[in-house]
Amino acid sequence: MGLRICLAGATGWAGSELARGIARAPDLALVAAVSRTHAGRVLADVLGEPRLEGRVYASAAEALSQPCDVFVEYTRPESAKAHVLTALQHGAHVVVGTSGLTADDFAEIDAVAVRHSRGVLAAGNFSLTAVLLLKCAELAARILPHWEIIDYAHDDKIDAPSGTARELAERLSTVRQPTPTIPIDQTVGPREARGATVAGSQIHSLRLPGYVISAEIIFGMPDQRLSIRHDSGNSSVPYVDGALLAIRKVPTLVGVHRGLDAVLDLG
Ligand SMILES: NC(=O)c1ccc[n+]([C@@H]2O[C@H](COP(=O)([O-])OP(=O)(O)OC[C@H]3O[C@@H](n4cnc5c(N)ncnc54)[C@H](OP(=O)(O)O)[C@@H]3O)[C@@H](O)[C@H]2O)c1
Repeated sequence: MGLRICLAGATGWAGSELARGIARAPDLALVAAVSRTHAGRVLADVLGEPRLEGRVYASAAEALSQPCDVFVEYTRPESAKAHVLTALQHGAHVVVGTSGLTADDFAEIDAVAVRHSRGVLAAGNFSLTAVLLLKCAELAARILPHWEIIDYAHDDKIDAPSGTARELAERLSTVRQPTPTIPIDQTVGPREARGATVAGSQIHSLRLPGYVISAEIIFGMPDQRLSIRHDSGNSSVPYVDGALLAIRKVPTLVGVHRGLDAVLDLG
């Protein structure tokens, strides 16, 4: 048997596609899953994929009674941190796909991960084109000091800003702080009209029917603009390969690492 995986959120939109990807991978075995609705069943019966022999448990703590090497968190923002801390305390490495965790959450998780000598790899977006958005924006921010971020998503996305937008802002803060010509707190009119300030960047979150998930960063200079935008379609297929790579690489890490490029050789 290769790496043993416990997948929280295995019956969800993103988690079920990842479960099918794990089923196809000869070096990975799904030993347990978490979903409150399907607790007590075998995942194979829930997803119609006979290779998924792991049982479904109602909580992460119960699922972690099955020894596993890597715990994957793909549930909801409000349950994610507790799941990750529980998994680390059980000695598992952790891959976090769930969005909505803050920099403070990750600082707390990092301390626990380091104490247990375990790795945590967190990415708000596991698709390759989203990783390239982060890297290209980092490069542009070295040269261009003015930018704002737009985060587009479907109307029932519960968290804002998206994990991708938040990660982009936090990443760019390590390059430099953007410099709005008029400071945000000197806005005339509702302050909210200028978006949320995250790690120094302004993020504007749209939540509308007709969108899936997109993130766009606009760099502005006198008489010129650069836009870099990532769009994903309706399926959760784009996230599978990146998440599988994260699962395979996370046992080589200690502490929290943000973004799939932490384990990709992008120079
Ligand atoms: N990193 C990436 O590339 C990426 C890609 C897509 C989505 N995401 C993020 O991943 C998260 C999940 O998205 P999704 O669209 O797959 O959501 P979803 O379809 O609602 O699925 C959520 C899953 O988590 C389970 N769950 C929810 N709350 C739980 C709890 N308190 N305890 C245990 N299990 C719980 C659900 O099962 P039960 O309701 O039966 O418990 C279900 O299996 C979101 O934060 C989303 O933004 C990230």
